[in-house]
Amino acid sequence: MNVLLIGSGGREHALALALSKSPKLQTLFVAPGNPGTRGLAQTVALDVANHQAVIDFCRTMQVSFVVVGPEAPLVAGLVDDLERAGIAAFGPSKAAAQLEGSKGFTKDLCREFSIPTADYERFTSAGPAKAYVARKGAPIVVKADGLAAGKGVIVAMSVAEADAAIDMIFGGAFGAAGAEVVVEDFLEGEEASFFALCDGDHALAFASAQDHKRVGDGDTGPNTGGMGAYSPAPIMTPAMTARVMEEIINPTLRGMRQRGIPFKGLLFAGLMIGPQGPKLIEFNVRFGDPETQVMLPRVQDDVLALLHGAATGALPQKPVSLSPETALTVVFAAKGYPDAPERGSEIKGVERAAAMESITVYHAGTKLDGDKLIANGGRVLNITARGASVAEAQKRAYAAIDVIDWPGGFCRRDIGWRAL
Ligand code: AMP
Ligand code: GLY
Repeated sequence: MNVLLIGSGGREHALALALSKSPKLQTLFVAPGNPGTRGLAQTVALDVANHQAVIDFCRTMQVSFVVVGPEAPLVAGLVDDLERAGIAAFGPSKAAAQLEGSKGFTKDLCREFSIPTADYERFTSAGPAKAYVARKGAPIVVKADGLAAGKGVIVAMSVAEADAAIDMIFGGAFGAAGAEVVVEDFLEGEEASFFALCDGDHALAFASAQDHKRVGDGDTGPNTGGMGAYSPAPIMTPAMTARVMEEIINPTLRGMRQRGIPFKGLLFAGLMIGPQGPKLIEFNVRFGDPETQVMLPRVQDDVLALLHGAATGALPQKPVSLSPETALTVVFAAKGYPDAPERGSEIKGVERAAAMESITVYHAGTKLDGDKLIANGGRVLNITARGASVAEAQKRAYAAIDVIDWPGGFCRRDIGWRAL
C-alpha cells in the first residue's frame, strides 16, 4: 500500500524507518519530513491544516493509509475527515483526542470509570481554584486544561506558587488552553510511560519507556519536550504491565466506547507508580517524542501491519514481539533550548556517528543548506543506541555523540541514570 506519514520530528524519522521495512509498503510519502526521512520516503509539501488538500493528495497518489505523528492534526479532526473520505488513518478522532486535548475530560472519565489517578477538581475562575488549594495545601499540581506544548503543568511546592500558577493560567499565558484549570493532588513514586495500541474495542500492550523531561543533568531546570529516553522502563515488569492494562487502559477503552467515542490509535499513558500501584498522570493520544525513537527499534513485528490493524479494527490478538535489548536515545539540542534555541549552526560528523555499532541517528530539527547540515529547531538530533543493558546502550550513545562536531549544541550527560 501507499502510505502518507505526517510530521517532521525525530519521532517521524523513526516511524519512517520502521514503516519502510514493511513488505506491505509500496511508496511512503512524508509531509513535511526532515533531512533524515529523505531516502526513506518521498517528501511532500502539504498544508496539513487543509484537510481537503490532504485528501486530494491521497486520492491522486493512491494513498490508502495515513499515519499522523503529532497531536495538533488529531485534535483538529484530520482522522475524521480522512475516514469520511474513505481513507484509513492511524490516530483517534477529534472527539477521542480529547483524552490529550482536555485534562478535565480525562479526569472526569477516570472518576466515572474508577481509573486510578490523583484526586482533583476543575475550575473556570481563580477564586474557587485558590480556595481549593488553600483547603488542600501544598505540594499540589495546577494544570491548564488544554494543549500547552508541555508547559501547562505547574508542580507547586507552596500555596503561593500554586496561586501564582492559577493567576498565570487564567491571565491568558496559554490562551484558550487555560480557559479551564485542573488542580490535583501531588503524586509520589516513579514515573514511566506506557503505550498501548487500540482499535476501538481492544488494546494491545505495545512498549514502555522512561523519559527525562528536565533540561539539565540530575533532572534540573525547566521542563522540555524530552531530553532523552530509554526502553523498556525497568519498573514496567510483566506484572505491572498487566495491572496497567487492567486498571487503566482497558477501562479507558470501555469508557470511551460507552460515551460513543471509541478510541483508536496509540494510547500513551504517563504513569506514576507509587506504593499503591500505578496511577494515571495524563494521556497522550499519539507516539511520544523521543519515546518512539527507543520503542520502534525494539519492535520485531511489521509496524505498518500493526498500525493498519489498529486503524481498521483488526488488531492482532498476539502480543507485540519486542527485542529484549535496551534502546536509549540522547537528544542533542540547540543551545538556548527550551526558551530560545539558536538556529543556523553547522553540524558535522553525523554520518560517522551513524556508522558506529548499534547506533541510529534520528533527525529532528535539522535542515540541509547545500550539503551542509544545519540546526533548525530546539531538539535537533536524537542519538540512539541499542545494547544488552541501559549501561551498554548509554555508553554507546555518548560515544557516538562525542564524534559529532557541533559547538552550537548541548545534551544531558546522564540519560538513563535512574536505571543504573
Ligand atoms: P504532564 O504534562 O501532565 O505529563 O505533566 C508533566 C510532569 O509534571 C509529569 O511528567 C510529572 O513529572 C509532573 N506531574 C504532573 N502531574 C503530577 C502529579 N499529580 N503529581 C506529581 N507530579 C506530577
Ligand atoms: N515526550 C513526551 C511527549 O511526547 O509528549
